[in-house]
Amino acid sequence: MHTALGTDLFKALTLIESGQTVAVPTETVYGLAADANNEDAVLSIFAAKGRPTSNPLILHFAALETALPYTTSFPSIFAALYTAFCPGPLTFIVPKSSLVSGLITGGQETVALRFPKHPLLGQLLQTLGRPLAAPSANLYGQLSPTSAEHVYSQLNGRIPYILDGGTCNEGLESTIIGLENEQVVVYRYGSITPEALATVLGYLPEAKVHAEGAVLTSGMVKHHYATQTPLYLGTKPAQEEALALQISIQADPKIGGPQLSLSTDGSMIEAARNLYATLHQADALGLEKIYVAAFPNEGLGRAMNDRLARAAAKFA
Ligand code: TXA
Ligand code: MG
Repeated sequence: MHTALGTDLFKALTLIESGQTVAVPTETVYGLAADANNEDAVLSIFAAKGRPTSNPLILHFAALETALPYTTSFPSIFAALYTAFCPGPLTFIVPKSSLVSGLITGGQETVALRFPKHPLLGQLLQTLGRPLAAPSANLYGQLSPTSAEHVYSQLNGRIPYILDGGTCNEGLESTIIGLENEQVVVYRYGSITPEALATVLGYLPEAKVHAEGAVLTSGMVKHHYATQTPLYLGTKPAQEEALALQISIQADPKIGGPQLSLSTDGSMIEAARNLYATLHQADALGLEKIYVAAFPNEGLGRAMNDRLARAAAKFA
């Protein structure tokens, strides 16, 4: 299959309406989108990514009104969070209605709803008038894409079109939340931090980001978000003999050898935006090892440490 790359919204729409998959930009990472109401189209998402169908997909909508028919209950505390943060990088786990195919939810009775903030995707969703099912547009287990070029490097030949909407502004997948015993729980850290949620909730939500028993969200899988080059969380040891690169928020003059920094001024927002792009860049250098210095374990740093720990787990 030939994979085209461009900014033609009409072409993207036509392909999706005919049951094909199209990579689309969001504010977090690129998604691999298909018509959520077409089961064959949804199946082709799993095929293109090489992803097991047991891992549920997120439904993307232009606004809450269009999403409500897909759930039997959208709690008022979620409505308050929607008002505060959406459109934006927050995904709500709610009970599914009969409109949602079990293929989307991995057979579960809950469904993930998200309201992405990207002008091109917003226009696409509005014109389509139906939800798009979309996981991140990477091969299963590999690095998430934050540019159209990243998508092309992994999915070239596997999908017909990549809608190029530039570089993703946030750079980390959405924060995923659910409700347990009337309390909001974080299932995946993302750019909306527990501290930010607390400003609306009045309490710091509990995080359940490590799988206990059955895997609920694929972000809970231990090996995930991985580079091809062995990746380690920490500072390169002075005696390291392998051809190794150090990545940190800002380059450290005490560390010898090649280095890449994630921010020009130590900004965590900029570091999050650049994280995947820098890992893609490092991975393409053909080195023996990549070290990434851990971030302060708070706010965005927690979300980044979580992704890196899952990537590093593959090489432990
Ligand atoms: O920012 C994002 O969320 C991006 C963009 C493209 O929207 N999407 C994304 O999708 O990260 P994906 O498939 O790579 O990760 C979605 C996560 C998975 O961990 C999946 O298991 C979880 O959402 N998920 C989906 N439905 C769920 C459900 N019903 N219950 C629990 N987790 C669910
Ligand atoms: Mg993913």
